[in-house]
Amino acid sequence: MTDIKKGLAGVVVDYTAVSKVNPETNSLLYRGYPVQELAATQPFEAVAYLLWKGELPTDVELARLRAVEREYRALAPDVRAVIDHVPLDAHPMDEVRTAVSLIGAKDLAGSGSVLDASGNPDENLARSIRLFAALPAIVAYGQRRRRGQEPVAPRNDLDYAANFLWMTFGEEADDVVVDAFNRSMILYAEHSFNASTFTGRVIASTLSDLYSAVVGAIGALKGPLHGGANEAVLHIFDEIGEASNVGPWLDQALAEKRKIMGFGHRVYKRGDSRVPTMKAALDTLVNHYDRPDVLALYDELESEFVARKGIYPNLDYPSGPAYNLIGFDTLTFTPLFVAARVTGWTAHIMEQLASNALIRPLSEYNGPDERHIEGYVPDA
Ligand code: ACO
Repeated sequence: MTDIKKGLAGVVVDYTAVSKVNPETNSLLYRGYPVQELAATQPFEAVAYLLWKGELPTDVELARLRAVEREYRALAPDVRAVIDHVPLDAHPMDEVRTAVSLIGAKDLAGSGSVLDASGNPDENLARSIRLFAALPAIVAYGQRRRRGQEPVAPRNDLDYAANFLWMTFGEEADDVVVDAFNRSMILYAEHSFNASTFTGRVIASTLSDLYSAVVGAIGALKGPLHGGANEAVLHIFDEIGEASNVGPWLDQALAEKRKIMGFGHRVYKRGDSRVPTMKAALDTLVNHYDRPDVLALYDELESEFVARKGIYPNLDYPSGPAYNLIGFDTLTFTPLFVAARVTGWTAHIMEQLASNALIRPLSEYNGPDERHIEGYVPDA
């Protein structure tokens, strides 16, 4: 009997130096640094640099990255036009996927045959930085156009996180909000061989281009078992309404065998290492916006669900209400995840290409036995 590992659960498929997830110690290291320390001390741009290059940037290196990031921040007119072609009631992840696809097609235009598609390390780093820089405007514009608002031009006097909020809301966010948002971006940036990153690595392993790999990763992230869960958490909060409804709501949800989004993880079984940091950011936002009701519902659902099922929250559980408090529409949550995770995806794509082997697993056939088309006579 072949030992099938459904969902590749527990299968180690390659080495990575990008991040280390340790469910035993409940820790997550980016290039060796605990993610909590990075979230508490670094701007997201510095963490992007770390993921790509393996070391935190010096002041000069950070300034250089920031200069390039500012150069590619604005929403290009043709990218805006293609987004405008996506139906307003399509999911914004489709919008983001389409926009990235166009950016890739433009960037690679005239680059020759598919044999050159995968690019060299310098080209791929430059492509990664351009996508990192372009995504906030795409995500911000998506939310604005659904609200019937014009795009807001970037502000070059603001760093990544502050500018992202500026382009989304058209007003400068308070420092405490910028800080919580920056932390969330860092926490979402990277998580080893998760489904979307693995998708990106599979595509890169065929020597396709970085943009194609990111487009595929966006498709994988959309699903509610992965990135789509942060959006789903808010739907659940909306359904429950207030803390006092949690008990009866949970009785019914569990009787219907529903999955409670924002809980559970393939790797962490005793709690997600990123949750305490994001929960602290949520607490700060709850104080800032004076919304104790959000915390009451959060705490009640968490304690009831953990008590009944022994399944702990994942990062999407605190990030969903945090993004809601900041003012993001629920549909924008997963695109925010894209803007963060593009750093991890591209670091992995470059790592894959640096020591590539085509990813091509085997399967055990369990279909019908060999059979033949009636009346078929092979050519003599
Ligand atoms: N709600 C209810 N039951 C759950 C949940 C949940 N959130 N998570 C796991 N379980 C139960 C399953 O029903 C299953 O029970 P059973 O053995 O009685 O059938 C058991 O726990 C094992 O669950 P699996 O889904 O098989 O475990 P897996 O390791 O594949 O699950 C997953 C990981 C997919 C994330 C799962 O916990 C889930 O669906 N959670 C909700 C979606 C979610 O929050 N995803 C975000 C992931 S983190 C991220 O992308 C940042």
